[in-house]
Amino acid sequence: MTLSSSVTRRHPLLAALSLALVAALSACGGSNSGPVASPEPSEQYVPPEPPSGYTPKAITYAQKDMVSAANPLAVQAGVDILAKGGSALDAAIAVQMVLNLVEPQSSGIGGGAFLLHFDKGANSLLAYDGRETAPAAATPNLFIGANGSPLGFLAAVDGGLSVGTPGLLRMLEAAHKAHGKLPWKDLFEPAIKLSEDGFAISPRMSVSIAGSAARIKAQGEPAASYFLNADGTAKAAGTLLKNPELAATFRAIAAGGADAFYKGDIARDIVAKVTKHPTNPGRLSEADLANYTHKVREPVCGTYRVQYRVCGMPAPSSGGIAVLQTLGLLQNFDVAALKPNTLDSVHLVSEAYRLAYADRALYVADPDFVSVPQAGLVNADYLKERAKLIRMDQTIGTPTAGTPPGVSAARGQDNSLNLPSTSHLSIVDRNGNVVSMTTTIENGFGSLQMVRGFLLNNQLTDFSFTATDAAGKPIANSVQPGKRPRSSMAPTVVFNASTGDVEAVIGSPGGSAIIQYTAKSLIGMIDWGLNVQQAINLPNFGAQTNATTSLEKGSLIDTAAIRDGLRARGHTVAQTDTFTSGLHGVVYNGLRANGQAGLLSRNPGAGTYAGGADPRREGIAKGND
Ligand code: DON
Repeated sequence: MTLSSSVTRRHPLLAALSLALVAALSACGGSNSGPVASPEPSEQYVPPEPPSGYTPKAITYAQKDMVSAANPLAVQAGVDILAKGGSALDAAIAVQMVLNLVEPQSSGIGGGAFLLHFDKGANSLLAYDGRETAPAAATPNLFIGANGSPLGFLAAVDGGLSVGTPGLLRMLEAAHKAHGKLPWKDLFEPAIKLSEDGFAISPRMSVSIAGSAARIKAQGEPAASYFLNADGTAKAAGTLLKNPELAATFRAIAAGGADAFYKGDIARDIVAKVTKHPTNPGRLSEADLANYTHKVREPVCGTYRVQYRVCGMPAPSSGGIAVLQTLGLLQNFDVAALKPNTLDSVHLVSEAYRLAYADRALYVADPDFVSVPQAGLVNADYLKERAKLIRMDQTIGTPTAGTPPGVSAARGQDNSLNLPSTSHLSIVDRNGNVVSMTTTIENGFGSLQMVRGFLLNNQLTDFSFTATDAAGKPIANSVQPGKRPRSSMAPTVVFNASTGDVEAVIGSPGGSAIIQYTAKSLIGMIDWGLNVQQAINLPNFGAQTNATTSLEKGSLIDTAAIRDGLRARGHTVAQTDTFTSGLHGVVYNGLRANGQAGLLSRNPGAGTYAGGADPRREGIAKGND
């Protein structure tokens, strides 16, 4: 078994699917990395969160503040907190707890997150790292099976083995201490009430359950009864679902702080669930939970088109670095002249992705364990040199990583994958403070292990399954005790490079394609003059570490002319019907003190803030006037 095939996601019902359906699913969202893009029939996979349709959305304006997130109930909780005078960080906590309830497949207290916080008064941007860590008892061969080969992806995911120490609550508690205005306990009230009164299962949640129903059933209680009907089918959209256990968990955390989660009964139950799994036990201990610490890191920033300072999440996420690399490469081309939805722009941007993903595969991992040449990777001179590899008449095909300034060790090729679930929220409060947070339990429904009303993550499968590559070189993103798995999450804040004003807040779920979704939106707003909703709407496309370029199926770029044009330049073209980004963005749309409009304002006067929500998911943007 090769490593690449071993980490490919497969669906248990795949054998029953017709060949036609298999073909239709052959290039799934976030899937344009080597192992998945051009799979053998036996290696086709169904992404854990299937698409749930495309609902056109109108741009939203508001005067005082704005929340954009993946579910209307969660957004309302955030808007209400802001109306009560809460800060962006307060609102983020309320939104997150409701998301845990109403979008349980994507994020929650059993997982981790990265959060950028801009404190307008202090003029300070901080990157909060609430990423899961590998248990102290983890070893580099965690995902090597009894036969000496890496486990299959789902064999690793389902059960206790993949569960990392959750980081979300420790991080949120620390961020709240620094940036909160309302009492911590108040921020749990909307989620407690909804958990007790019940909420209507959304269409997307029901579709997600259906996509994982067989695996949920196989993993048993309590998740099976919570998500499935007695006959094993998914609970339908519209079903009223109550989660009194989660309400009790939230009450305990509201009263006792994050300690109520990391120590005591809840921690014991988490550890029991992980370590006593009947077939796939994990190594998490109560000491791992008690010892978890969040990190506050320096954001990674770069200048784009002179006027914009784009800031993102540094390592252990590859998200900020790869978005900045993409922009830094494109900076050497006149992207505006190429226009959106053209053969040339799809080709050029895909080539930039190829170079960025090649570096990502080699160099990015937890900087507390391996040296990451972060400054070198986003260095403008380095990217200018790398940009010379891009030709308009021919694809690079399979790219080779560069040698950025600061490389100190030979690195092996990392083949780890990460694919659809996760959630992104963007919030600006009335004082101009900002939260950009991407939050995840990794795969749809995480490890499928439910404890006290919430699901546990499978974040450890974001590590490379092997510690060395085929050439025997050490892989930066290998498993080590206490280490954070590399991520692609890319919460982003864009500033006016000369005044320091916030211009945009954006990010997305989507596994390794997060980088493409986020970069696309920034290019749309900055190079193509689109408003935030139009930029989010732009067709998704991209490439990673091989010649395959994936196009969002049925979109404006999925035309015979573009497909044939790409093929003529050497691309392998995949039409992808599961490029389900979940972009949620807010743009400053008002007039500055000097009477000038914000750089990205497209309709100044309509409202101080403009919000956009991805038509591919169920979110909305809303604020107070
Ligand atoms: O940290 C990461 O990059 C992944 N675990 C995120 C997973 C994800 O976005 C799935 N997507 N929709």
